[in-house]
Amino acid sequence: MNSVLDFLRQRQQTSLDQLCDFLRIPSVSADSAFAPQMQKCADWVMQSMTGAGLVARIYPTKGHPIVYGERIQDPLLPTILVYGHYDVQPPDPLNLWTTPPFEPQVRDGKLFARGATDDKGQLFTHLKSIEAWIKVTGSLPVNVKVLIEGEEEVGGANLEHFLESHGELLKADVAVVSDTSQYADGIPAITCGLRGIVAAEVRLKGPSKDLHSGIYGGSVANPVNALTKICGRLIGDDGRVQIPGFYDDVVELTPSEREQYESLPFSEAEFLKEVGSSAPFGEAGRSTLERRSARPTCDINGIVGGYSGEGPKTIIPSRALAKITCRLVPSMKPAVVLDALEAFLKALCPAGIQFEFQRYHGCEAFVFDPTSEWLTAARKAVETAFGQPPVLIREGGSIPVVLSFKQILGIDTLLLGWGRNSDNLHSPDEHIHVQDFHRGTLASACLWEELAKVKK
Ligand code: BES
Ligand code: MN
Ligand code: MN
Repeated sequence: MNSVLDFLRQRQQTSLDQLCDFLRIPSVSADSAFAPQMQKCADWVMQSMTGAGLVARIYPTKGHPIVYGERIQDPLLPTILVYGHYDVQPPDPLNLWTTPPFEPQVRDGKLFARGATDDKGQLFTHLKSIEAWIKVTGSLPVNVKVLIEGEEEVGGANLEHFLESHGELLKADVAVVSDTSQYADGIPAITCGLRGIVAAEVRLKGPSKDLHSGIYGGSVANPVNALTKICGRLIGDDGRVQIPGFYDDVVELTPSEREQYESLPFSEAEFLKEVGSSAPFGEAGRSTLERRSARPTCDINGIVGGYSGEGPKTIIPSRALAKITCRLVPSMKPAVVLDALEAFLKALCPAGIQFEFQRYHGCEAFVFDPTSEWLTAARKAVETAFGQPPVLIREGGSIPVVLSFKQILGIDTLLLGWGRNSDNLHSPDEHIHVQDFHRGTLASACLWEELAKVKK
């Protein structure tokens, strides 16, 4: 074990250089113009798996390719399914990046690039640790099956189909995903809960074309007025979502979870600095930590309609559109929430406006069994590498595949995040702290040994 860790320490610069090669490939899944880059990135991942000592291949899908590699050391050992995603969010707005998003650069101990923390920098730690074990000892303490997909950021259904049709190939005892965050700098975390999500789009149509707002104003329903009115009703003055029945199925934190939460260090000033905001906001009577991970939300992600160019323009616009997502906690049901959201908005829509509601992806929230032996093993590995025991937290983000692992493959997922929420994921100047990348790699190396001790 120590020789594996030494090997990784000696090769830190090489690993970082390789990560930079990975980050140079602009694997933006949302934009079809990047399709060739997606293929190139999948090839790169496959090469990297092969180099690490895995038997790897690419599975084409209707969308972006899936890369799969495995090493079955001994059927009697536990089998770990490692998951990550090589696709990244679009880098826009480009002008807010200090250096270009696909030209990785280290500044101030941080490696800047799109995908640095979400998720290339995190998933790569596992490839490096597997490689080190195989190069140093000639074997691995566990069997590994590594699944790296290219459609996480677009919530594609292709991976789900792949899981459904490759149950035998992917058979494993537990999954490991590094696509979350530490609790804070130097306070590692194991994420025992994720919020679920539903996404929808509301489209309102008023007059068949933009109209002169002097000639017609006051006599024709304005879809932008209507949309802002109905969207304005979503959240009450107490910060609570106003959709009838929205909180009906919500499970509260248990007393012991609440105790855990209250014992975590939290500075409101630091939180506000991190988000660049002047005051906290949210559901009355709930702490910031609880609001952002254990309470459901409803957010308008974007709203467009009418004229927003320079100077005034006197029109009644013909259309308006809003994108809305709700984050779900246990045991809210995506379909129930979407039904309630649609009914709520539709009922508020005035006469003369045509209402359209489109549903996108959805997934339920996830909670991990806090008494699991896999968790105990993972805690030890993280503590060894970070020099600090991890805290158990719930995260506000969503990783739908974790639900699919449970429902389709019947396995739980250890969420071991090496990044930080302040790494600007989905934002300009995304980065990973170089130190987090290296200690993540060491934690991953320790993990295989600890998981090997668990009776499967
Ligand atoms: N890695 C994130 C999720 C995440 C980040 C969870 C930090 C917890 C802490 C993932 O890539 C992501 O962005 N997920 C999306 C899912 C959506 C597209 C279905 C999200 O949460 O918005
Ligand atoms: Mn991610
Ligand atoms: Mn993401």
